[in-house]
Amino acid sequence: MSRARITIDRSFTVGEVPQRIFGSFVEHMGRCVYTGIYEPDHPDADASGFRQDVLKLVNELGATVVRYPGGNFVSGYNWEDGVGPVENRPRRLDGAWHTLETNAFGLHEFVNWSRQAGVEVMEAINLGTRGVDAARELVEYANHPGGTYLSDLRKKNGSAEPFDIKLWCLGNEMDGPWQIGHKTADEYGRLAQEAAKAMRYVDPSLELVACGSSNSQMATFGDWEQTVLTHTYEEVDYISLHAYYQEHDGDAGSFLASARDMDHFIESVVATADAVRAKGKHKKRINLSFDEWNVWYTRHGDVDSPDEVGKHGWREHPRVIEDEYNVTDAVVVGTLLNSLLRHGDRVKIANQAQLVNVIAPIMSEENGPAWRQSIFWPFARMAALARGQILHTRVESDKYENARYGDTDLVDVSSTWDEETGRMAFFLANRGLEEAADIEVALRGFDNARVLSAEVLQIPEGKDRFTTNNLQHRERVGLVPLHDAKAAAGELRVSLPALSWAVVEVEVSTN
Ligand code: AHR
Repeated sequence: MSRARITIDRSFTVGEVPQRIFGSFVEHMGRCVYTGIYEPDHPDADASGFRQDVLKLVNELGATVVRYPGGNFVSGYNWEDGVGPVENRPRRLDGAWHTLETNAFGLHEFVNWSRQAGVEVMEAINLGTRGVDAARELVEYANHPGGTYLSDLRKKNGSAEPFDIKLWCLGNEMDGPWQIGHKTADEYGRLAQEAAKAMRYVDPSLELVACGSSNSQMATFGDWEQTVLTHTYEEVDYISLHAYYQEHDGDAGSFLASARDMDHFIESVVATADAVRAKGKHKKRINLSFDEWNVWYTRHGDVDSPDEVGKHGWREHPRVIEDEYNVTDAVVVGTLLNSLLRHGDRVKIANQAQLVNVIAPIMSEENGPAWRQSIFWPFARMAALARGQILHTRVESDKYENARYGDTDLVDVSSTWDEETGRMAFFLANRGLEEAADIEVALRGFDNARVLSAEVLQIPEGKDRFTTNNLQHRERVGLVPLHDAKAAAGELRVSLPALSWAVVEVEVSTN
């Protein structure tokens, strides 16, 4: 049994929970759109072709904002191809994923879907093959009330009211040599600055995200952020971060410590943004948009290469990167969410990539059922219960050694407190592969604590840490009641099984 002591104090808060950190991502990639959220011939599809079984799970997941339409896809995408009568929309080759895009689903469909899903739209513009003109025209089409060619075209295409999209990404991963229209930091910084300016001339209320690095291992990481923000500081509100994690060669210990990399990545980008602020004598602060993150088992041959396309032709929405997530992945996702929440003073937006089928918490079979992956649970519970203030958590935990990060706490935590409802939530992970963890939480400044609910995701009885949900076994991994959670005045005690993620909701009063 390992031990951890956590101390929280009602006076030590990080800030309000930014609800936009429970964001997700829909890209025209694989089966995320087609046979994911949209499948007109499915028995559960409505008149618009939106799968209601998938929508139900999206609601349950609790995503607040969804990024669209890419990803790498957006860097070769013409937004105009996805509007107007469907029968007139062009079929195009998508160079990013080497597939055939029918454009049956486009901007209007996505906005209508997002309204049904109750999520905010986060729209990405193409700064790979296109530029300032396409960007400002898209803003005019989407957000201008009427009386101009483009806003009237939107009305003619079925949307009398403006879409009123506030949140925009200025391109995607423009530092990556794989990106269509890849640029140097100076080239991208200038283009993003001019695009931002022109977009704001059309709608001054926009919130804009500049592309940061594709991951913290890029050779240009750090310099890229500095150069891009030097060009764009006054024009943008956020800088983006992307990170994907996976278990390498059976090294579960390092994989389970991935949130340490995320912590470091976030803190490095905050430091860089603040250095640009100081040097440029700027008043405002740039916040962070962690707009792609997840576990992703990258494998050679995951997506069609130009050679494979030569063999079998250009395919429409093939199965690509449909990772099947296990118990270990769910614990890692829980700790990544903890990292995002603990940094909620600066990370204001985060999008798990992606929403359905493609490295996703929700899976759907063509003409078949939809189900929840293991990673669905930490996201859904945190999105539902993280409310009010984020609390600083002081953790004194037994540690374990791992190859990548050295000594790492066995127990990981984040916590929130909603003064209005008197409810606190604790999101806890035990990284120990063998040992249960005994956790004592000192609740300073709170009394009369009472456990309202406690649930745990753990290795199902008789199974191992690689257990997953899939088409045949759709509910094998999920949450079960956690009986070992007890609260008393000023104290909470929780016992977590080996390799588990748990959520404990506590009602407290303050004197
Ligand atoms: O989410 C899958 C891909 O990962 C995105 O298209 C790209 O931005 C990232 O490299």
